[in-house]
Amino acid sequence: MNPKICIVGSANIDQISYVDTIPSDGETVFGDSYQMGFGGKGANQAVMAGLLGADVYMIACLGTDVYNKMTVDNLNNNNVNTDFIQTVNGSSGVAPIWVDKTGQNRIIVIPGANNLIDADTAIDSLSNIGPLDVVVGQFEIPLEVNEKVFEYARNNGVQTVLNPAPAGDVSEKLLNNTSWFIPNEVEFEEMLGEPFNENALLKHSKETKPEIIVTLGEKGCAEVSDGKVYIHQAKKVTAIDTTGAGDAFVGSFAYGLASKMSKQDSIQLALEKATNSVTKKGTQSSYKD
Ligand code: RIB
Repeated sequence: MNPKICIVGSANIDQISYVDTIPSDGETVFGDSYQMGFGGKGANQAVMAGLLGADVYMIACLGTDVYNKMTVDNLNNNNVNTDFIQTVNGSSGVAPIWVDKTGQNRIIVIPGANNLIDADTAIDSLSNIGPLDVVVGQFEIPLEVNEKVFEYARNNGVQTVLNPAPAGDVSEKLLNNTSWFIPNEVEFEEMLGEPFNENALLKHSKETKPEIIVTLGEKGCAEVSDGKVYIHQAKKVTAIDTTGAGDAFVGSFAYGLASKMSKQDSIQLALEKATNSVTKKGTQSSYKD
């Protein structure tokens, strides 16, 4: 049987401009190219897990605009079940993104329908989906939805993965129902109150209920096993576009967990998929081999 994963989270349309150097205040610059594609941290993670072969269910909320059908078709084309997508009047989420010549990005998310996802409908959906191996959440939808979904998941014996991106308030309730907490360095500092370093990771790993894995971009990731911090290096590549690399990591890691792979093997798979994704332009389009 395939591993079964439910991702609860955002779906956006990414509007990516590629430019040598990001403009300064008041400056106008010419870009090199532009592409529109499918994004949103939730949808990205779902597509990554779907491409790896999991049975993936997406619980998200779209608007009544042209992006609705495009997004649903795209998810279906990438092996993601869309039976539980909600729709509300108004606009779907969009994300204008700038990527510079080093592959670094700056992202603005206009949440639109993502902010209107209904928590009780999400719980009904989970109960209709039935037994799951892993539930994944991020922070591009309201906190209350993640809280209720993770509480339901843990009460039903399902492992939960929280990717607190973009950084925001996290509640005790949510953390207590989280099995795996996966911030990047910036989110680690903003949420846990001190810069990432090995001692800080060790300290928070002792104090916090979930296991913590910190993604470190081109440096790989850090985690604690048997009371010791391990840094797992990523393969060296030339980055073209880092957009969605963190989501590739989370979606692949969730696939590994759901497939009963070890933590170490899940991390290696996640690093490999995230690293591959930065060598190509686009968000979900960079996940395909
Ligand atoms: O993590 C990358 C994603 O952040 C983009 O796809 C964008 O839509 C925002 O959600």
